[in-house]
Amino acid sequence: MNKQSLVYRSARAVYRFFRSELYFGVVHLPIGRAKHKAVLAKSVRNDSHTYTCFYRSPMQMEALVGPVVEGLQRKGVRALTIHVFAGSNGGEAYTIASELLHRRPELEFTIRASDLHPHMVEQAGRASYTLQEITQGVSVPEEFIARTFDRDGDRYVVRPHIKQRVSFEQADLLSEQLPQQFPPADLVFAQNVLFHLPPPLARQAFGNILRVLKPHARIFLDGMELDMRVELTQRAGLKPLDYKVRQIYGYSRRHIPENWWDYYYGNEPYSVFSTDRLARYCTIFECTGAGA
Ligand SMILES: C[S@@+](CC[C@H](N)C(=O)[O-])C[C@H]1O[C@@H](n2cnc3c(N)ncnc32)[C@H](O)[C@@H]1O
Repeated sequence: MNKQSLVYRSARAVYRFFRSELYFGVVHLPIGRAKHKAVLAKSVRNDSHTYTCFYRSPMQMEALVGPVVEGLQRKGVRALTIHVFAGSNGGEAYTIASELLHRRPELEFTIRASDLHPHMVEQAGRASYTLQEITQGVSVPEEFIARTFDRDGDRYVVRPHIKQRVSFEQADLLSEQLPQQFPPADLVFAQNVLFHLPPPLARQAFGNILRVLKPHARIFLDGMELDMRVELTQRAGLKPLDYKVRQIYGYSRRHIPENWWDYYYGNEPYSVFSTDRLARYCTIFECTGAGA
């Protein structure tokens, strides 16, 4: 690299730092939060957003195969029961199964995955995808794709030993019957769904999710309004897992436009000055039994 391009790249890095970390992350944050509150109050939500992809959060998967599984094993859990709610076309549940089988081969586990929409459940059950459906244009490691799928022409079919760990069914997070349908589990995923529900319904769904957690359970909760997540997790006695919080949160924002406040799903930049930053930006929680 010649001296001129080195100077240019350094100047760009400094500019990006000032713009994103200092301006958007600090100076503009109170204004952004105020604007976002107004957007949240009037935005229309609905249950038809089914966007998903495989390997959506690599660092959450690191947390899963590391401190989350280890924490559950310390509690004496040997055969892990996992519920994946709002699982869309199956990408999330198959990713979890593939990661656990690859990185925790000794672990016993079963996954019950579900979604509101029967056509999503059907697609998940077929377990056959195009490359575009797997990646949604985001980079997914080739090594993950190779170990998760068999090729059938231009389709990618989830390998049988992974598929057999996951079952799919229709389920509504708003249903009072949720605990009758699902016994309490060790590990629950309810990701990127609550922010798509009108706030009173998100609270109702959250209340139902609490009813299907074992006393020592861990829960993955990305995609929820931050103020609501802080309030409801603290009230329920859910303790944030202090593991790569900033990186996991930052990665989940990678498609959020700079003017995040204009979108109801547009979470703010990570702020080191938020006094509640662990609870605020964390996406993985542990039941403590201390809830109200
Ligand atoms: C944006 S996708 C998220 C998929 C996946 N969890 C992820 O993080 O990639 C939201 C999913 O929530 C589902 N959903 C919406 N309302 C629901 C409800 N009341 N109960 C269960 N699932 C619901 C939608 O059908 C959709 O598949």
